[in-house]
Amino acid sequence: MIKRNKCIANIKAGYLFPEIAKRRREFAAAHPEAKIISLGVGNTTEPILPHIDKGLTEGAKRLGTVEGYLGYTDEGFLELRERISKVFYQGKFAPDEVFISDGAKCDIGRLQLLFGAGTKVAVQDPSYPVYVDGSVLIGAANGWTGTGYEGIAYLPCTAENNYFPDLSKLPSDSIFYFCSPNNPTGAVANRVQLTELVKAAKEKGTVIIFDAAYAEYVRDPNLPKSIFEIEGARECAIEVNSFSKPAGFTGVRLGWTIVPKELKYAGGESVNADWARICGTIFNGASNIAQWGALAALDDEGVKEMKELCDFYLGSAKLIREAVQSLGIACVGGDNSPYIWARFPGRDSWEVFAEILEKCQVVTTPGSGFGPAGQSFIRFSAFGHRADIEEACRRLARLKG
Ligand code: MLT
Repeated sequence: MIKRNKCIANIKAGYLFPEIAKRRREFAAAHPEAKIISLGVGNTTEPILPHIDKGLTEGAKRLGTVEGYLGYTDEGFLELRERISKVFYQGKFAPDEVFISDGAKCDIGRLQLLFGAGTKVAVQDPSYPVYVDGSVLIGAANGWTGTGYEGIAYLPCTAENNYFPDLSKLPSDSIFYFCSPNNPTGAVANRVQLTELVKAAKEKGTVIIFDAAYAEYVRDPNLPKSIFEIEGARECAIEVNSFSKPAGFTGVRLGWTIVPKELKYAGGESVNADWARICGTIFNGASNIAQWGALAALDDEGVKEMKELCDFYLGSAKLIREAVQSLGIACVGGDNSPYIWARFPGRDSWEVFAEILEKCQVVTTPGSGFGPAGQSFIRFSAFGHRADIEEACRRLARLKG
């Protein structure tokens, strides 16, 4: 009989978010009267705003006409690639450096193919689980040791180091997943820190995979929204991004990845050419309808709507942050990010998760699900209807004493 893929055998059962959903279902079955509110998974809840929605619906209608119909558009609409470069990168990238995808998570998965099983992997700890789980699936990391996967360099990002890793621990010739604004901590790396990161990556021959999925939540004008605001990043970084969180496209599915032509392997070969080869082979391109929606999101009115949507969720984040702080619980994030990262010293994250679910009927995300340094933390997501957020904030008062 066929043998199980040993990389899959290495991975722990249950991706974090389905595991949370399972525990929520179990709680609901045992407490049918409970009105559970989710501040768990970062899933958008608000309707797509009218101008962007019109882009989607008109796009769908075009597909029903002879003149408007389009089939495969493998590498994405040229106009969309140009507009992404103009709106987010001051036109710094040529269209063939902008790859349209069906979302950041999917591209993070495919990016693992680019570097393969033999490449060392480093992550911020805590981090978005896809970086680690994807590395295990491709064979770049091995079995679970009890606190982490063998072969992954976990670089702690904690209150003690202001949520920025000690770069002297960054392995050479590795890929380093770096997320800012960070999921889960909500911390945003400043310009000095990102400059240090680029310097360290270049010295060590490391490629930064910069996840900027929450960049549109940055409100502090001094904070960078892209690694490519830093000089030298074109030679050492790839950036993944998405319309999910700024435009409410979590269910529509559209993102992009920037692979600069200056990025080269040790042998001088082009990473951009390999990425084009991989995408052309295993990806047939993103939905045309989603791309028409994204084009609408990137004209003046669409950009305004994205800001409005992010402002709405940031308003909710502020309420959660204030509610958590009013209980005397230390937390970060929620100001330039939709996530609030709260500390429960000496406690197990899953135990705190269970207590909040039990006492408040509020679902959260246990910090330990994001890596060893997430132990004793809870992540609150600000994605929710405002009335639910307000109700959840009132119920959190039950955690007092
Ligand atoms: C999260 O809650 O971290 C989200 O699931 C992130 C995502 O996949 O968009």
